[in-house]
Formats: sequence, C-alpha cells, structure tokens
Amino acid sequence: MVVEDKLEAIGVSKVFGDFTALDGVSLAITPGEIHGLIGHNGAGKSTLLRVFAGAVRPERGHLRISGRNVAFDGPADAIKVGISTVYQELSLLPNLTVTENTFLGAEQTTAGALRRRAMERETRELLERFQLDIDPLTKLGDLSIALRQLVEIAVAVHRNVRFLLLDEPTASLEIAHPAAIGVAAKSSPARTGRDLAHRSQAQ
Ligand SMILES: Nc1ncnc2c1ncn2[C@@H]1O[C@H](COP(=O)(O)OP(=O)(O)OP(=O)(O)O)[C@@H](O)[C@H]1O
Ligand SMILES: [Mg+2]
Repeated sequence: MVVEDKLEAIGVSKVFGDFTALDGVSLAITPGEIHGLIGHNGAGKSTLLRVFAGAVRPERGHLRISGRNVAFDGPADAIKVGISTVYQELSLLPNLTVTENTFLGAEQTTAGALRRRAMERETRELLERFQLDIDPLTKLGDLSIALRQLVEIAVAVHRNVRFLLLDEPTASLEIAHPAAIGVAAKSSPARTGRDLAHRSQAQ
C-alpha cells in the first residue's frame, strides 16, 4: 500500500572528497510522525536534511514521495513539492515586516490590490499559535535573534508545507527551544496530518 505523503530516502550516499558523509542511508517518514536524528558532530545529519531539501545531490540512492521516485535539481524543486526547511542561519528578510515575510512570494490580493488587513490578521493568528507576543507589523530586523528564529519556524509552518525539516534552528535559543519545537509539532503537522522531521543538538 502506498501511504499518501510518505517521504523516503532510499540507500542515499554522499561523499565529500575522500569523506563518506552518508553511506546507504534509508529513512521513511509517514503522516503524523516526528523523527529526530541523533548523531555526533559530522555524522551526516545536516547532509541528509540537505538531500531532502534539494541542496545536496546524492551520488547513490534516491528520494521517493508517495511511492514515486523524485530527483531535485535544487532547493526550488523541493519547495515546490512541499518540503520546507529551516536552518540555523536566519533566512527571512530583516527589512520587511513579519507579515510581509510570512506572505513573501505568496501575497494575497483582490483585483490586484494587496489584502493587507487579511494578511495581518492571519499573521497575528499564526503568532498567537506560537505564543509569540509580536505585532505583525514589526520589522523583522527590530526583533531579537531569538524571536527571529521563532518567526522563521512559524513562517515555515505557515507555508503550504507537507514535510517540515528543522536543522537546529533553535540551537542558539536556550529558553524558547522546547516550546517552539512543541508548537511546530502540534500545529501544522498534527492539524493537517502532515509530517515533521526535526533534529536537535539536545540529547
Ligand atoms: N559541502 C561540504 N563539503 C565538504 N565536506 C562537507 C560538506 N558538507 C558537509 N561536509 C562534511 O560532511 C560531514 C557531515 O557533515 P554534516 O554537517 O552533515 O554533519 P552533522 O551530523 O550535521 O554535524 P553537526 O552535529 O556538527 O551539525 C562532516 O565531516 C562535514 O565536514
Ligand atoms: Mg549539522
């Protein structure tokens, strides 16, 4: 039986020079599951997530979604099929507001006009779900790094995401870490039956 929205890596290998970062790794993620990857520094955890995210191309093995083989030419291909990745580095735009970042490239319009109020309302609801006391009209760059990291996770969940990959996006946060991951886990994936793969340094 083919499980709808199942994401698989099958026998994935990746070599950097003489170094084998991934050696025949297989992993299957089915709806409602949360996976944590645990391994020592340099074990290949980020490399595996980058393969799923289309940022690293494996030498051997392949990815499969819902039973069909897929090959990504780059991150845009992974995003297109609903794989959303949050890295440790901040990626949203600091000169835009939280609302503008939330809807970047997917702005809501009516007859060509931006639906500002509707986007603000939706962003406010998203922030509330993440228990973030932030005005949606705040410029992202005016927030602390910790809050920006949490907004990155919230925005990734808000996208039309089938699979959410978190590569230590909260490594620099001490206080908010468990809450952020918990809300991310409980909100989008549970609500939509979609999946979340998360890796954390916490052991
Ligand atoms: N682009 C690259 N070029 C060369 N070597 C790389 C590259 N990316 C990763 N590596 C090497 O591959 C190995 C696996 O790295 P990776 O970042 O996947 O490990 P990790 O498990 O995420 O480690 P950490 O816990 O430190 O984040 C490391 O030895 C790393 O130096
Ligand atoms: Mg890593």
